[in-house]
Amino acid sequence: MKSTMVVFVALLFLELFTLVTMINISFCIGNPNVGCVDSERQALLKLKQDLSDPSNRLASWNIGDGDCCAWDGVVCNNFTGHVLQLNLGNPNPNYGTGSKLVGKINPSLFDLKHLIHLDLSDNDFQGIQTPSYLGSLKNLRYLNLSGAEFAGVIPHQLGNISNLQYLDLSKSYYELQVESISWLSGLSFLEHLDLSLVDLTKSSDGLVTINSLPSLKVLKLSSCELHHFPSLPSTNFSSLKALDLSGNHFNNSLFQYSSWVFGLRNLVFFDLSDNEFHGKIPSGLGNLTFLRHLDLSSNEFNSAIPGWLSKLNDLEFLSLRGNSLHGTISSMGLEKLTSIKTLDLSFNVELGGQIPTSFVRLCKLTSIDVSYVKLGQDLSQVLDIFSSCGAYALESLVLSGCHICGHLTNQLGQFKSLHTLELRDNSLSGPLPPALGELSSMKNLDLFNNTLDGAIPMSLGQLSHLELMDLSNNRLNGTLSEIHFVNLTKLTSFSAFGNSLIFKVNQSWVPPFQLEKLRLRSCHLGPQFPSWLRSQKHLFILDISNTRISDTIPRWFWNSISQYVYLNLSTNQIYGEIPNCDRPLPLVPSPGLLDLSNNALSGSIFHLICKRENESDNIYVYLKLSKNYFSGDIPDCWMSWPNLLVLNLGNNFFSGSLPISIGTLSSLELLNLRNNRMVGIIPVSIQNCSNLKVLDMGENEFVGDIPIWMGEDFQVYRFSIFDQTSFMGLCQFNFVV
Ligand SMILES: *[C@@H]1O[C@H](CO)[C@@H](O)[C@H](O)[C@H]1NC(C)=O
Ligand SMILES: *[C@@H]1O[C@H](CO)[C@@H](O)[C@H](O)[C@H]1NC(C)=O
Ligand SMILES: *[C@@H]1O[C@H](CO)[C@@H](O)[C@H](O)[C@H]1NC(C)=O
Ligand SMILES: *[C@@H]1O[C@H](CO)[C@@H](O)[C@H](O)[C@H]1NC(C)=O
Ligand SMILES: *[C@@H]1O[C@H](CO)[C@@H](O)[C@H](O)[C@H]1NC(C)=O
Ligand SMILES: *[C@@H]1O[C@H](CO)[C@@H](O)[C@H](O)[C@H]1NC(C)=O
Ligand SMILES: *[C@@H]1O[C@H](CO)[C@@H](O)[C@H](O)[C@H]1NC(C)=O
Ligand SMILES: *[C@@H]1O[C@H](CO)[C@@H](O)[C@H](O)[C@H]1NC(C)=O
Ligand SMILES: *[C@@H]1O[C@H](CO)[C@@H](O)[C@H](O)[C@H]1NC(C)=O
Repeated sequence: MKSTMVVFVALLFLELFTLVTMINISFCIGNPNVGCVDSERQALLKLKQDLSDPSNRLASWNIGDGDCCAWDGVVCNNFTGHVLQLNLGNPNPNYGTGSKLVGKINPSLFDLKHLIHLDLSDNDFQGIQTPSYLGSLKNLRYLNLSGAEFAGVIPHQLGNISNLQYLDLSKSYYELQVESISWLSGLSFLEHLDLSLVDLTKSSDGLVTINSLPSLKVLKLSSCELHHFPSLPSTNFSSLKALDLSGNHFNNSLFQYSSWVFGLRNLVFFDLSDNEFHGKIPSGLGNLTFLRHLDLSSNEFNSAIPGWLSKLNDLEFLSLRGNSLHGTISSMGLEKLTSIKTLDLSFNVELGGQIPTSFVRLCKLTSIDVSYVKLGQDLSQVLDIFSSCGAYALESLVLSGCHICGHLTNQLGQFKSLHTLELRDNSLSGPLPPALGELSSMKNLDLFNNTLDGAIPMSLGQLSHLELMDLSNNRLNGTLSEIHFVNLTKLTSFSAFGNSLIFKVNQSWVPPFQLEKLRLRSCHLGPQFPSWLRSQKHLFILDISNTRISDTIPRWFWNSISQYVYLNLSTNQIYGEIPNCDRPLPLVPSPGLLDLSNNALSGSIFHLICKRENESDNIYVYLKLSKNYFSGDIPDCWMSWPNLLVLNLGNNFFSGSLPISIGTLSSLELLNLRNNRMVGIIPVSIQNCSNLKVLDMGENEFVGDIPIWMGEDFQVYRFSIFDQTSFMGLCQFNFVV
């Protein structure tokens, strides 16, 4: 019996082998490759034709290469050669638009009849309708259109893909909606359904349908504009393990009328964050004893921390952030959570008490955030509690705005796993301990706004993983030098304003980091302009105001000026004129500030204000050039500053009249021209600045009447610091001084 079986199997293999060889041969005639079915190859090529692919992800998809089974993102059946999977999800969704496939989906996709897995996530189909013929891909088990930018009504034909196990239609930037989701009832094998960001307002029947899906394990309905769930007579959701209802408009009626929620005994993941719940946290949650992840953040719960939390023995993640909880944090409910890894109680400003010594039992805790809770505790007491397990597992300690006092001590050096230490807005005093430099995992060190004093220890230069360091608004003094940064290769943000620090580095210093943000206001940097900034190609926020710079701005800096979204060089003794230089396009198109005020700059502002050929418009919202020695006409180039809200040109030596293009600043709220040498009349075009609230033209030589329309069209409060004395004409205008 056995041997015949072996023979039979052997024969079968031989048979298969010949078959495969035959196919091989037959393919060899037309093209040398095996595997791929010709009609499917054609279909893929048509699919590619309709897509633009800036990052060349589909480079391997070309006519010359016949075996489409070897193309990137294509998986075939090894025996039949049919395409089984298309994995075209964007591998770098955070890399801007660069790696997206853009365009439409050619209907030839329909020819891939054997497809079981289709992933088009995080591409850009530009708001086209989700293709209804997807419903004819009957073999699909996995369909992922997450973030693929489809729009409109989701086609009910998807309900015909009866084998579907995973369906992800989440996170479209365009509006996706459903008329009804009764079509879901056809998907009886569905295990994973994600409709996050789909507008489900029209589908009040939604949950009833979803309830009929017996295999469902994961249900994500985040930000679906849901207000209330129907009450369900019985629930079929018994296999549901993860439920995400965050970002909707649910309030307590969910608990009152839909208490089936508390019957979901197998639930492991439950997210109710960012809804409109208030009052007591419902005790029914205490029955969901398998929960590992419970997120109740950003609601208005206003009870004490419930004691029944202690029943959730498996809980690893608990967030109560951003509610109105009261009472104390030394709750029985918390101290028994021995599995807890992440605990977030922050932004409950009515909550008080102290971190209790019973927290010594929470030995698995890696991340705790108690920011903006009234603790009023000594830091060393807190550190004693969290170090008592001996393991020092803590990776993130966030205690901002908790009235924490005391000193930072060398005890901190024991927390070797710490990557985040945020203690901003507290009352910490004394010096920074050298042991801070031993926290070799540290990425984010935030000590903003305390009363720390003394010098900055050189050991901080050893924190080779450090990305963000904020020491601003303290009483630190002494000198910062190269050695303080020697190994900070990953630093992207450094902030030390509001101290008495001297920043003293060699003019030829090339720092090991590439900063994005640097704020050193009121540190002592000068007298020379910091030449090391030249190496910082990604810097877009720079505040070196009031830093005793007494120098000209080097030409390379003028050339780089458009890389800044926020640039504050004010209150120095910077002199010289603005040169005509090459300004590349702005790196980050976001509103910003350009402040050169209170310096000794002179000459014309033409090269700053007027763009050169092909240059894009300015993005700045604030432009402050006041208190310098600028002179000449105010250039008639304001059409390239469309976002300006505040324009301060006061206290300079500008002459000539106000240019007509001022009228293109339709967002402008404040215009200060005070104390210049300007002449002429108020241009009629200023009527177009319809958002103007403050107009100060005082101490100039303007002439003529104040136009009647000023009184009619502008609201009176807009002229609160208007100076009548500079007008010689007849005043038909009611000034408010
Ligand atoms: C096809 O064969 C390759 C290599 O032999 C294997 O890695 C792959 O899993 C097989 N694919 C399928 C769909 O069976
Ligand atoms: C769909 O793709 C996105 C992006 O790659 C991914 O985050 C998500 O988990 C996928 N959905 C499913 C159900 O696998
Ligand atoms: C599903 O397919 C059947 C037959 O294949 C067809 O009659 C029906 O209209 C389809 N339903 C939907 C919702 O497309
Ligand atoms: C629960 O599932 C069973 C079997 O799939 C089905 O017959 C029943 O109608 C479902 N109940 C509800 C309330 O949908
Ligand atoms: C929680 O479980 C207890 C005991 O099984 C039960 O009496 C109670 O009704 C349940 N609460 C809810 C809200 O389901
Ligand atoms: C720094 O401040 C401390 C006390 O605040 C003071 O004793 C010390 O002399 C200061 N050092 C320098 C260099 O100014
Ligand atoms: C910088 O870090 C490297 C490796 O992380 C280490 O070998 C080197 O000694 C450090 N240099 C200084 C000056 O600390
Ligand atoms: C501006 O753009 C046009 C068209 O792209 C080009 O011909 C011209 O040379 C550019 N001018 C400058 C100064 O770059
Ligand atoms: C003022 O607005 C009007 C109408 O919107 C427009 O035609 C005119 O060009 C604008 N004037 C200036 C100087 O922007």
